[in-house]
Amino acid sequence: MMASVDVDYIFKVLVIGDSSVGKSNLLLRFSDNIFHETFLPTIGVDFKIKNVTVKDKSVKLNIWDTAGQERFKTITAAYYKGAHGILVVFDITDRESFNNVTNWLNEIKKNAGVNVVKILIGNKSDLESNRKVSIEEAKKMAESQGMVYLETSAKNRINVDESFMELTKSIYEQLPEKDKMSKGEGQKINGTRKPVKSGGCC
Ligand code: GTP
Ligand code: MG
Repeated sequence: MMASVDVDYIFKVLVIGDSSVGKSNLLLRFSDNIFHETFLPTIGVDFKIKNVTVKDKSVKLNIWDTAGQERFKTITAAYYKGAHGILVVFDITDRESFNNVTNWLNEIKKNAGVNVVKILIGNKSDLESNRKVSIEEAKKMAESQGMVYLETSAKNRINVDESFMELTKSIYEQLPEKDKMSKGEGQKINGTRKPVKSGGCC
């Protein structure tokens, strides 16, 4: 029998952005501390679970890693529904992936709820000498959209955990006060609040 794990919150998180910016590797680094040099484009969507703690609350993150390739857009659009937080990723060495952030933000507007928390991630910060997008420019664009901007390296494990934790914290902080009650009190939250079995799915 599986052990029962008491979870205070379940948050649905999505990782989006152009193909090859490093979405899957960010998630792999966060969930399993793995990095793949070889590019294996995601087909449709992948899924990972990670349990974290925020302000003494246990949070189960259901993280959906979407394919960036255009041909999967219709499939991936279906996964935005009910998302609490979204990491919008571009590659700091790929100007076009930054220009396309606007398109990804439009996808969010079309497919996700208005209260979804978004964070802008500039990945591959280890490739500084090949940088095509300045920190200032990325920060400015993030601020104009009400987003925090963070730079990561999935390869060198820089800021990866911090990015997912920042998103989790922001989701938690924007929950209505009544939903931030201590264990055993409230019932329903923006993210589901219920005890779950470990290994149970979304
Ligand atoms: P799709 O699944 O097609 O949307 O791509 P993706 O965004 O998931 O990209 P993926 O994580 O598969 O990484 C693409 C390539 O970039 C791979 O060859 C990775 O090794 C490389 N990569 C990912 N993150 C980093 C990083 O932080 N630094 C460097 N130097 N390379 C990275
Ligand atoms: Mg991928």
